[in-house]
Amino acid sequence: MPKHSTGGLISVQKRWALMILLCIALSTTIAFFIGSSANSCNSADYGKFSSRIDAVEPESSGGNKKGENPLHFMNSKLVLMVSHELSLSGGPLLLMELAFLLRAVGTRIVWITNQKPTEPDEVIHSLEQRMADRGVKVSPAKGQEAVDTALKADLVILNTAVAGKWLDAVLKDNVPRVLPKVLWWIHEMRGHYFNLEYVKHLPFVAGAMIDSHTTADYWKNRTHERLGIKMPATYVVHLGNSKDLMDVAEDSVARRVLREHIRESLGVQKDDLLFAIINSVSRGKGQDLFLKSFYEALQLIQEKKLHVPPVYAVIVGIDVNSKTKFETELRNFVADKKIMQRVRFVNKTLNVAPYLASIDVLVQNSQARGECFGRITIEAMAFQLPVLGTAAGGTMEIVVNGTTGWLHPAGKDGLTPLAANIVQLAMQVETRTRMGNKGYARVQEMFLEHHMSYRISLVLKEVLRKANS
Ligand SMILES: *[C@@H]1O[C@H](CO)[C@@H](O)[C@H](O)[C@H]1NC(C)=O
Ligand SMILES: *[C@@H]1O[C@H](CO)[C@@H](O)[C@H](O)[C@H]1NC(C)=O
Ligand SMILES: *[C@@H]1O[C@H](CO)[C@@H](O)[C@H](O)[C@H]1NC(C)=O
Repeated sequence: MPKHSTGGLISVQKRWALMILLCIALSTTIAFFIGSSANSCNSADYGKFSSRIDAVEPESSGGNKKGENPLHFMNSKLVLMVSHELSLSGGPLLLMELAFLLRAVGTRIVWITNQKPTEPDEVIHSLEQRMADRGVKVSPAKGQEAVDTALKADLVILNTAVAGKWLDAVLKDNVPRVLPKVLWWIHEMRGHYFNLEYVKHLPFVAGAMIDSHTTADYWKNRTHERLGIKMPATYVVHLGNSKDLMDVAEDSVARRVLREHIRESLGVQKDDLLFAIINSVSRGKGQDLFLKSFYEALQLIQEKKLHVPPVYAVIVGIDVNSKTKFETELRNFVADKKIMQRVRFVNKTLNVAPYLASIDVLVQNSQARGECFGRITIEAMAFQLPVLGTAAGGTMEIVVNGTTGWLHPAGKDGLTPLAANIVQLAMQVETRTRMGNKGYARVQEMFLEHHMSYRISLVLKEVLRKANS
């Protein structure tokens, strides 16, 4: 996403600059991908339970009036951020986003990347450059300087479970002195993270911050049942859309130009209906099941001679650098069922806005426990798209069933319901519009950057208070 200063109205000049940047981004060969968190939440087992979490209410209104930054109290505080790695995946990018939000209120930030490849890496270099430009100090992961910073910092933010390895390896005897000011931000729930090697210090930190209630419940349960450890105070913080994304979503000219451009590149007509999954292509994200539902929907439309515009399935997230068995399976299915002309495969991209501008319905088909949060869902809602999502994970906390989209069960049980939902939305333009508008209103109400800032500010205040007591 191109970085742009924002402010009320975007001038015509700025708008064109934005458009040009977007088009450059479109033609770039960099095949990376953000959108929804790249950290998968899937694993074989699935558990349902309820347990109390000391949650910051995600519905809290945001509270702040325009102009008042809820993070203001972080001015001149020193924060050490420890990222398990530096890449264009969801976890590190979110931490970077928080670093920039805090820089904007004058927080001093030191950034440490725990695991780095030994060879020079272009992505790491450019991300570090970007941080340096914004006044984030990038420091070595090990050594006395890292220890001193940790001891001096007002707050230490560990990002993802794996970052826990940094504590003993670097701080050694100082671990107990640092733990009371650690906020641990967790974005994943795959089984192998429930490992004492990573999380044995988790009970003793000031707090854990987790992207959805479902994920927080899962952590609470798993740490208890599997590892016999107790979660610290746990805060659920739903994410928000960046201002950059909202700028494009709310600019009707930008949206129209992008829509025309992408539709032309996909070879579809103005009135064709595009149902898309925008996610890395993997079984956990459910592209295979989506295509099966889509095929079922096409058959229904044909059998019942339903009067609907031509419908297309778009899969955004192909990795050109590693052709997987799963991708081959998807392509074979499409060839076997002879629906090639109705399906489009698109490369992974960092820049999801052009695709959101060009599609009509987002399908969020993540399987098993679903997404931890699923940022692409709120991004799609910003573009006034209805969402057809699995009733799992963070999606259930974002999509209001029947209002901003429809939920279907994960797994094979969801095939026919999803097919029926696709047909319904294809037939009912008013439903699509109504759900899209309701989704947008929900984003305005709770999924903007300032909402996220506010929610995070409550957690940071709490953690600072504990660290100083
Ligand atoms: C935790 O999950 C397991 C299944 O994975 C379930 O049997 C158990 O009852 C859950 N425990 C709590 C406290 O919710
Ligand atoms: C995907 O990337 C490959 C390799 O860079 C390129 O040849 C191909 O045209 C791209 N496809 C699309 C649909 O952008
Ligand atoms: C969603 O709502 C539909 C009716 O609008 C209902 O049939 C379906 O069971 C609901 N799904 C969930 C997961 O609540």
